[in-house]
Amino acid sequence: MKAKQLGVIKHVQVDARKEFVEEYIFRSIKANGIYEGYPLSTALARYPIASKLVEIARKEKVDAVAHGCTGKGNDQFRFDTTIAIKGPELKTIAPIRELNLDRKWELKYAQKQGIPLSKVGKSYSIDENLWGRSIEGGVLEDPARAPPEEIYVWTRPPEKAPPKPRIIEIEFKEGVPIAIDEKRMDGLQLITKLNKIAGEYGVGRIELIEDRILGLKARENYEAPAATVLIQAHRALEQLVLTKQELAFKQAVDQTWADLAYSGLWFDSLREDLDAFIDNTQKRVTGKVKVELNRGNSRVVARSSPYSLYDEELASFERYGFDQRDAIGVIKFHALQSKILHKRKGD
Ligand code: ARG
Repeated sequence: MKAKQLGVIKHVQVDARKEFVEEYIFRSIKANGIYEGYPLSTALARYPIASKLVEIARKEKVDAVAHGCTGKGNDQFRFDTTIAIKGPELKTIAPIRELNLDRKWELKYAQKQGIPLSKVGKSYSIDENLWGRSIEGGVLEDPARAPPEEIYVWTRPPEKAPPKPRIIEIEFKEGVPIAIDEKRMDGLQLITKLNKIAGEYGVGRIELIEDRILGLKARENYEAPAATVLIQAHRALEQLVLTKQELAFKQAVDQTWADLAYSGLWFDSLREDLDAFIDNTQKRVTGKVKVELNRGNSRVVARSSPYSLYDEELASFERYGFDQRDAIGVIKFHALQSKILHKRKGD
């Protein structure tokens, strides 16, 4: 509609939602993809957007592409890098960055050219996709001020959420969500539905000071109801089925994975190497997790899996399971070196 209004010569629309879910969001769930508290929604989407852009540029036989990123943010890194990797013959033009323009100039230009903008679109810089909504700029640039209610579109204020908590059950198969409350759905449906359900309970509002690639600290606000609940539930299931050693090692792997996805380095082969490790761990991440949604909060309340490493018999206060006296010998050797050291020091 906008393109038509502006009289552009040709407009192409690509529906890449399925690919976005399966190639990017699912990987991110398996990697518990979070950067400094941010579930990477915008970051992940930039790679398929830029990849599709290159595909179309080739089909249309153009020699340059353009984007509207400023020189301050992260998106320029994700776009420019992906375009340079996938379409090295293409020139990338970024007028806002090249001419050192600011938002005031952009708004005036939009007005002059008759480019329609909504009220929130005028006041903030917004990016939105299936995995989350990001809101920056305007009054949000003062981190000492709480975000105004008007920035939120997907989530209700907690005080307007349903008064009674709701428990939902999410089923995972090999690290990927496949059902809500026993109803099987594909990823696109499941995430869309969960954004709605959790959003209604005010879940998924995130306020952050984020360290951008260039080193700037930025005040960021997000709405990511489905991402919040799914990553929380996925982690809870991993705790049940992965060994202590796997969990500790994977935490470091997940952190590096999120750094790469955030920093415009999705196509670094290290990301693929990490995905290979992550995929192998996910073979056992199958089971069900119950999450309670309650006025702005989500909380895991129950989990089960055929691959559970939890042994009720062993852990129970009520049952024997093993002969407790066997622990006595083990404890004699526990902290052995500390015991020797403190003796030497004459403690
Ligand atoms: N800080 C986030 C990121 O780097 C969100 C950027 C979103 N862009 C925007 N114009 N609101 O991924």
